[in-house]
Amino acid sequence: MKIAVFSCKPYDKRTLNHYISGTDFEMTFFESRLSQETISLVQGFDAVSCFVNDDVNSEVICQLKQQGVNTIALRCAGFNNVDLDTAKQQGMKVFHVPDYSPTSVAEHAVALIMTLNRKTHRAYHRVKEGNFALEGLLGFNLQGKTVGCIGTGRIGAAFCHIMKGFGCEVLCYDLSPSQELIDQGCQYQPLDDIYQKSDIISLHCPLNTATHHLINKQSLQKMKDGVMIINTSRGALVHAQEAIDALYSGKIGYLGLDVYEQENKIFFEDMSSHIIQDSVFQLMLTFPNVVVTGHQGYFTDEALNHIAATTVANLQLSQTPNPQQRRLA
Ligand code: NAI
Repeated sequence: MKIAVFSCKPYDKRTLNHYISGTDFEMTFFESRLSQETISLVQGFDAVSCFVNDDVNSEVICQLKQQGVNTIALRCAGFNNVDLDTAKQQGMKVFHVPDYSPTSVAEHAVALIMTLNRKTHRAYHRVKEGNFALEGLLGFNLQGKTVGCIGTGRIGAAFCHIMKGFGCEVLCYDLSPSQELIDQGCQYQPLDDIYQKSDIISLHCPLNTATHHLINKQSLQKMKDGVMIINTSRGALVHAQEAIDALYSGKIGYLGLDVYEQENKIFFEDMSSHIIQDSVFQLMLTFPNVVVTGHQGYFTDEALNHIAATTVANLQLSQTPNPQQRRLA
């Protein structure tokens, strides 16, 4: 089986090469993303492997099929970038890696909370310059604070466990509540109650039509002044311009983002010598109470290994008559 691996960084190549050794898979690694512009690269391949920002839209899927590609093996959990309806119509097998390391993302959300709260991003630079003044670095105890978790699937549940460990009151919202979390003392409440009561709100639901721009002017108005918002899920859950307005007014007191709606033009690349052509993003970076990371929530050794092992297992599954496991289409 010949596989074209898109959006491939050296660390992906290292781990994938490790897991294909001993199989009859032949992988070709491309740094570029899969999109209409790069579709010509797939000629002669049986399968493609993609990541979060590859644009696997309807047209791309039809062209993949025309070129003889029958399998798409996503190396991520989220699949909002794949047109699953077209994939089903075209008989394209689509797999994902549903639970490569929920802990990695949950722990990163907590890292953002702790950075914003205790201002280690600012303290680091001060100390480097011999400035040991504490003014401006005041934090708060997490113990006793109310944390709202929107989406309590694999990552959200791991996040709730950690926040319970800090001694927080954890309020949850999900379409399918988890009995395990209820047993652990988490409380499911309507979304508006989460907005009104939470000191910190962390987003762990997928991006879909119901969650697109969930954090917007209207929902922000319902929140406490100075609320902390954490988004490690998908960028378009937050309306960036309306979040900026709320930062100016003080409604948002802290904003931690690992994802950004327009991230596909910026993230995963070294942009340090370029002028980033996104004034909303540039403005966001100027706030002292905003911390942005470049979609690194998943990026732990454990997760990379799990992603590579599961991707190879998914490609093996795709060769069986009716694979069900981890199959999206
Ligand atoms: P999951 O599928 O286990 O959980 C998602 C939960 O959201 C489910 O319990 C579902 O019922 C709930 N949900 C669906 N629609 C909802 C709605 N309208 N309101 C509230 N809850 C809703 O997914 P998992 O593994 O926990 O991942 C969550 C998200 O995290 C993914 O969709 C992905 O976008 C993001 N992610 C981010 C990564 C990063 O590196 N920053 C890495 C991996 C995933």
